[in-house]
Amino acid sequence: MNSNQETTPALERLVYTSRATEPLGTLALFDLLNNARLKNARLGITGHLLYADGLFTQCIEGPPEAIELLWQSLLKDPRHEAISVISRQPVTARRFKEWAMAFSSYRYLNDLNMPGFFPLDANGQSEKSLLCSG
Ligand SMILES: Cc1cc2nc3c(=O)[nH]c(=O)nc-3n(C[C@H](O)[C@H](O)[C@H](O)COP(=O)(O)O)c2cc1C
Repeated sequence: MNSNQETTPALERLVYTSRATEPLGTLALFDLLNNARLKNARLGITGHLLYADGLFTQCIEGPPEAIELLWQSLLKDPRHEAISVISRQPVTARRFKEWAMAFSSYRYLNDLNMPGFFPLDANGQSEKSLLCSG
């Protein structure tokens, strides 16, 4: 067996922050998440998206080729700007393995009862968002 194959990371995690170009309402977020989850499921990507004060912090994890593919789409997406990578590294395990994209935001944004929604507490954190850092 080729020894390179043994050392090639099977999983990568990328964490970035960005700013919404325009404030996103419930429907726009719902739409973004539904589409993201469908594509992520196809690509084998899991992760978490935090949206608060017009700022995003997203953690995506999956096969490196899939991460790169999604990353190129994210960089072109006009819904956000000032995209800044916090970390990008090979990892051995997923932090969000049961979520095609978990989502944490203000409780009032969940009037559509999205599955995989985690309301933020007074400190602007949720049980999942704490896992979404570099
Ligand atoms: C903050 C933010 C997070 C996003 N997260 C994802 C995601 O996790 N998965 C995904 O497929 N698209 C996500 N998108 C949408 C992508 O930027 C892109 O529109 C989508 O993947 C379709 O890209 P394509 O037309 O190049 O296939 C996100 C967009 C924004 C603004």
